[in-house]
Amino acid sequence: MTRVAVLKGGRSLERQVSLKSGVRVQEALHRLGHDVVAIDVGHDLVRRLRGEDPEIAFVALHGRDGEDGTVQELLEALAIPYTGSGVSACIRCADKVIAKNHMLDAGIPTPDFFAFNETAFKELGAADALPAIEQRLGFPLVVKPAGQGSALGIKFAASVTEVPGALVAAFSYGDKVLLERHVRGRDLAVSVLDGEALPVVEAVPTEEAFYDFEARYEIGRTRFVCPAELPEEVTARAQELALQVWDLLGCRAFARIDLMLADETGELTVLEANAIPGMTETSLLPMAAEAAGIGFDELIARIVQLAHL
Ligand SMILES: Nc1ncnc2c1ncn2[C@@H]1O[C@H](COP(=O)(O)OP(=O)(O)O)[C@@H](O)[C@H]1O
Ligand SMILES: [Mg+2]
Repeated sequence: MTRVAVLKGGRSLERQVSLKSGVRVQEALHRLGHDVVAIDVGHDLVRRLRGEDPEIAFVALHGRDGEDGTVQELLEALAIPYTGSGVSACIRCADKVIAKNHMLDAGIPTPDFFAFNETAFKELGAADALPAIEQRLGFPLVVKPAGQGSALGIKFAASVTEVPGALVAAFSYGDKVLLERHVRGRDLAVSVLDGEALPVVEAVPTEEAFYDFEARYEIGRTRFVCPAELPEEVTARAQELALQVWDLLGCRAFARIDLMLADETGELTVLEANAIPGMTETSLLPMAAEAAGIGFDELIARIVQLAHL
């Protein structure tokens, strides 16, 4: 029996998802016979951790603070071993611009993009570069904040007139945004557990509309297929790319890599890596583990075993 603190909630926009992940993790830890304390992460986090004195912390947080290395740094400072990736991998995964630049340097295919912070627009006249960017990326183009998850703030701009509004929306989530080439194709996710790629999951939106934040968490609005129905070599290539990204970004224990499979060219490109993917009833990592014969409790047990400082 280990005394495990489950860190959940927090103040990120993905708080609700994290609360669901957290409860599900707590239930599994109970079944595994651990001594579980749940901590809704807030101002008193350090005090609570000192008071509860856990042997390990299970980080079931998503988005800002919990997935970007901030909480991990505190756990390092308190010398509490924790689940998932370390500080540096969290930093690299949480920022899509950092992650994509690493991929570019390593020759891992990722959709073409340009990234700017607010200063570039306010003080360097970045808006004047938009026509050149639009020409290079074509329409529709995708505008997204560098630092969010769960499709928050992502907009597809169908034409020049939609770009400014999409940028304003993306900047409302953070001070760095990217404009990315749109890939028409299939939405794939490869989860990795302890350096091994799990079966590929395909997210098939049931409606014509963009796969948005609500669609992702409302059961029935997106259909998930696992293992994805793909030619063997495409599955193998998606898994190989995911492992390359895992190594490149320095992930540990588990992660989920999101990819697109282009309809026209059959090319696979990597969109992003998630250091702490969801653990809810509808989440893709548990689904992929299940397809590999690893039930939820076993998945949680393995993640706990891999906890580190
Ligand atoms: N360049 C793109 N082309 C086509 N679809 C995209 C593109 N970027 C994102 N999407 C869609 O938006 C979803 C979320 O994008 P992603 O980059 O994974 O961000 P996050 O999951 O962190 O919100 C993707 O799964 C995909 O459906
Ligand atoms: Mg994603």
